[in-house]
Amino acid sequence: MMNQTKTARLYVDTEGLHQAAHLLRKGELVAFPTETVYGLGGLATRNDTVAAIYAAKGRPAFNPLIAHVHSVEAAQKLVEWNDNAEKLASAFWPGPLTLVLPLKAGHGVSSLVTAGLETLAVRVPDSPTARALLKSVDQPIAAPSANPSGRISPTRAEHVIAGLEGRIAAVLDDGPCAVGLESTIVGLAGKPTLLRAGGVPAEAIQRALGEDLILPQAEDGITAPGQLTSHYAPGAQVRLNAPHPLGDEVYLGFGPMECDVNLSAAGDTQEAAANLFDALHQLDATGRPIAIAPIPQSGLGAAINDRLQRAAAPR
Ligand code: TXA
Ligand code: MG
Repeated sequence: MMNQTKTARLYVDTEGLHQAAHLLRKGELVAFPTETVYGLGGLATRNDTVAAIYAAKGRPAFNPLIAHVHSVEAAQKLVEWNDNAEKLASAFWPGPLTLVLPLKAGHGVSSLVTAGLETLAVRVPDSPTARALLKSVDQPIAAPSANPSGRISPTRAEHVIAGLEGRIAAVLDDGPCAVGLESTIVGLAGKPTLLRAGGVPAEAIQRALGEDLILPQAEDGITAPGQLTSHYAPGAQVRLNAPHPLGDEVYLGFGPMECDVNLSAAGDTQEAAANLFDALHQLDATGRPIAIAPIPQSGLGAAINDRLQRAAAPR
């Protein structure tokens, strides 16, 4: 399974889906689309496969992975369910939300997936392609975002190929991802805690729970290792809250303005989220420093600004 030489590009037709499921069942690595970003999938139950995921990404082994399943029932076989999980799953699954819950006895998931923790992150994605694939394999699929560790997440098959060509068996190409930002992660092993901002705004989660989420404080250190400060990093320097570009900078805009690439000329944070990583990939390819217009915190703006702060962090 290691030392692949050529990454097959599969398309979403009967043959492509069949081939992707077949490779996954054999323990190979297949990048597949979800509504958030492309995932680098492999059987969550096999140590050698999960080790190969970490190796393909160059990911530090302490950073645990999300198990993707096709239904709530499949999730309930892996984790200890509770009332809050029920509330959030019925409101947001399938969808861009990941729940962290205590592992259940007999779960069968490799301890490399949880990096030795006693909790597991689980998610039922909403993309019809992802669900068809998960249904067909019918086993939990561990899938981090399909990018080399620390780099920009992929929202198109081309991004996956640019980062992982030759390191994975195949990529299932389903065009651009609809949401474009990773899932929101909520810890439910104790009091509900926001572990990562993402595709479902925190306010919507609080409404569904009927209580406030605990927001991690900087001094708590790393709660989800995706909180590592430098992350999602383009090769170039990134400058935030820039009212206009300076010198040689390329300019990423938001709202009606002159710029090189606009996240959303209409000023819509949902549209901006869907375009964010593709825009960063494009601007990064220019080799010039990147200036980014201010983005409001409302709606998906909070998650966008979270990713941009990490992209701009010193490394
Ligand atoms: O939208 C997404 O979530 C995408 C798609 C492919 O589903 N996946 C994704 O995976 O973003 P990844 O590996 O890039 O980010 C998973 C995050 C990491 O920050 C990891 O630390 C956190 O989930 N995580 C996983 N298991 C955890 C656990 N048991 N407790 C706390 N955090 C956990
Ligand atoms: Mg990632």
